[in-house]
Amino acid sequence: MTQASSPLSPLSPLGGFPQTRLRRMRRWDWVRSMVQETQLSASNLIWPIFVIEGTERTEPIATMPGVERMSIDLAVRAAEQAAGLGIGAVAIFPVTPTQKKSPRGDEALVAGNLICTATRAIRERCKDSLGIVCDVALDPYTTHGHDGIMVDDYIVNDPTLEVLCKQAVLQAQAGASVIAPSDMMDGRIGAIRKALDQAGFEHVILMSYAAKYASAFYGPFRDAVGSAKNLGGASKKTYQMDPANTDEAIREVALDIQEGADIVMVKPGMPYLDIVRRVHDHFSIPIAVYQVSGEYAMLKFAAQSSAINEEACVMESMLAFRRAGADAILTYFAPQVATWLASHP
Ligand code: PBG
Repeated sequence: MTQASSPLSPLSPLGGFPQTRLRRMRRWDWVRSMVQETQLSASNLIWPIFVIEGTERTEPIATMPGVERMSIDLAVRAAEQAAGLGIGAVAIFPVTPTQKKSPRGDEALVAGNLICTATRAIRERCKDSLGIVCDVALDPYTTHGHDGIMVDDYIVNDPTLEVLCKQAVLQAQAGASVIAPSDMMDGRIGAIRKALDQAGFEHVILMSYAAKYASAFYGPFRDAVGSAKNLGGASKKTYQMDPANTDEAIREVALDIQEGADIVMVKPGMPYLDIVRRVHDHFSIPIAVYQVSGEYAMLKFAAQSSAINEEACVMESMLAFRRAGADAILTYFAPQVATWLASHP
């Protein structure tokens, strides 16, 4: 007796070769497009940008060729172009001058700081044509380069929450549409949601860096915002997740959803696609993925040396994020991707 098998089973004897030839559906462009399971559009993209003081100024970033730090006037122009390309949102990262950094990161709570000023300027010019994501964490502002308040070499959780709540409200007042806590303190989503609601910002979206790993792929970002030299050789392993863990990511995401996150993020991206997929299978909530600075650098340097084709590989990485289950993709390639999408619709 042969075992009964469902006619839908891929191993069904009725469905095998030569009756079934999957290559039939791969023969022409029209049929490949017709049955494509995953789509990408510019509206899925979030573009992280680095903002510096001054006007009409840009600075190259040696470890991220093609990415520049920009003064606010140029960031406004870049945001307008991003909106014109259909990009969903920009994420602003401030490059705080060294003399404004302090052990407690006080500059984070100055209403006229770089991120708030940039947010106001972009909001004023672009209105609601694109989202503005503001990062909540203290690392751009602290002399030790950590995301929170340090006591005896340890980043203390609850005192950090108080500062993060104030930082989030300030950014919402400046016009942020999305507050994105990237600090990995326990309980921050609930605390920030409450602080935003109490300040009348119940409509502001919370995008939690929920499963954020202590990754070596953040290196070029730390050069870009100038926190690498502050951090020295120190790691963020007492608050960011161990790259060995996957069940813990589910617990982090579950807690953040319970605390009021609207979007949950997995970070980094390509080395963590298994986490994106697990989160997608477990929860019904929008997911963001961050193709981080080190991933950008790998693709860019490989393309520059002609080892890979830049457009083909970058577009494949975008599709991989969507296939794994991500809705939004934070990527430094956002303007190029949107331009490529527009040129071959
Ligand atoms: C800071 C922050 C980091 C990134 C985004 N927000 C760096 C870090 O945690 O050290 C990394 C982004 C990238 O590498 O592109 N909290």
